[in-house]
Amino acid sequence: MAVTAVVGLQWGDEAKGKIVDLLTDRYEIVVRYLGGNNAGHTVMFGGQTYKLSLLPAGILRPNVTSVIANGVVINPAALLKEIQSIVDQGVEIGDLLISDRAHVIFPYHLVEEAVLEKSRGDQAIGTTMRGIGTCYRDKIGRTHAIRVGDLYRPEFFRERLRDIVAQKNTLIQAFDPGAEVLDAAKIYDEYSRLADQIAHRVTDTTAFLHKALKQGKNMLFEGAQGSLLDIDHGTFPFVTSSNSSGCGIHPGSGVPERAIDRMIGVVKAYTTRVGGGACPTELMDETGQHIRDEGHEYGTVTGRPRRCGWFDAVATGYGARISGVDCIAVMLLDVLSKLDELKICEAYEIDGERTTDFPSHILDLEKARPVYRTLPGWKKDITGVRKLEDFPKEARAYMDAIAELVERPVDIVSIGPDREQTVFA
Ligand code: IMO
Ligand code: MG
Repeated sequence: MAVTAVVGLQWGDEAKGKIVDLLTDRYEIVVRYLGGNNAGHTVMFGGQTYKLSLLPAGILRPNVTSVIANGVVINPAALLKEIQSIVDQGVEIGDLLISDRAHVIFPYHLVEEAVLEKSRGDQAIGTTMRGIGTCYRDKIGRTHAIRVGDLYRPEFFRERLRDIVAQKNTLIQAFDPGAEVLDAAKIYDEYSRLADQIAHRVTDTTAFLHKALKQGKNMLFEGAQGSLLDIDHGTFPFVTSSNSSGCGIHPGSGVPERAIDRMIGVVKAYTTRVGGGACPTELMDETGQHIRDEGHEYGTVTGRPRRCGWFDAVATGYGARISGVDCIAVMLLDVLSKLDELKICEAYEIDGERTTDFPSHILDLEKARPVYRTLPGWKKDITGVRKLEDFPKEARAYMDAIAELVERPVDIVSIGPDREQTVFA
């Protein structure tokens, strides 16, 4: 029996989807435990590209049971649309279970997020505008939350929604008197219809997972976002609204971390970030643009150009420690193949002091000046490499430096989007 977790160690978009997809044939169950349709996971095989957002990558394998666990926030219309798009691509959907404890995203969450983000001006978080943060806010606040299980208790659901929508209208109108007034009855009808369409998949996934563990089933936890976007440990307030480091697995699924025997941290060979918040190694020059072009660094969810920069071992090492990963997978190494020299940030200088600790306050992170280690580039196409020994020595030295500074072994290297373009150490 194997219970494995795959988590991002940076600011998301580490190509976790590829690693999860590669591993899924060895697992019977794949679990998504946090976030919602703010995530964008791209999986490529057999000449097809699959874009997943809420669905676990296990959905692409017919024998895998995919689980959307309690920690996820679900927009049911977006979920059904995503299922349809995968079916349209010819995928035979296997079992998909949805937690009755998961929270539901409603139209007012999107409207509320839009007015709140707008009100912050240049201090906006730069969210994906999917109502993720506003839904989690209601979850934590309790009084305005609706869970999947509530959708199947019609009287309870109708009354709750009526009260919540009335208060949301008051709040939204206060921020933006021009905003559309939401209609509780209309939302009730729409969500009741959507709930019917997913009803056969809704269950107590926590109980399901624990039975599976007892039966010795192989289970894979698929992270979304990244450790530095974690609500507690990330670059607050420029984070997502859930525990997106490894520490979110337990609250997000009900499976304790001690049940997990291998935790894989996924990192890009460089740094990217979308949305606001400091990013010490960001490159505003042509090297940054080169990385963006070579890596096709444009958001899969929002299409925004990603901010690109050198690999930041201070930030990533912190992510690795917070998440408690055993090893790392280095992704998109091939994107760096044309550069003459490469830099890795091995420390920060803050107010003249050198440190390898990741600052807890955003204002300190904004002041952090990266201290770089410079390494020679390999200037060769590495997309055809299939064995560790066949990498140019400069590429191996680059990976060794990452392993040394992040203090975790590099177990997997990816040099292209295809399943075959992967080297296991
Ligand atoms: P995957 O799973 C990259 C970022 C947003 C924004 C901040 C808050 O593809 O790695 P939110 O909508 O979550 O409230 O936005 O978090 N963000 C991501 N960035 N990849 C993601 O997911 C992200 N999910 C959220 O850009 O800065
Ligand atoms: Mg993304």
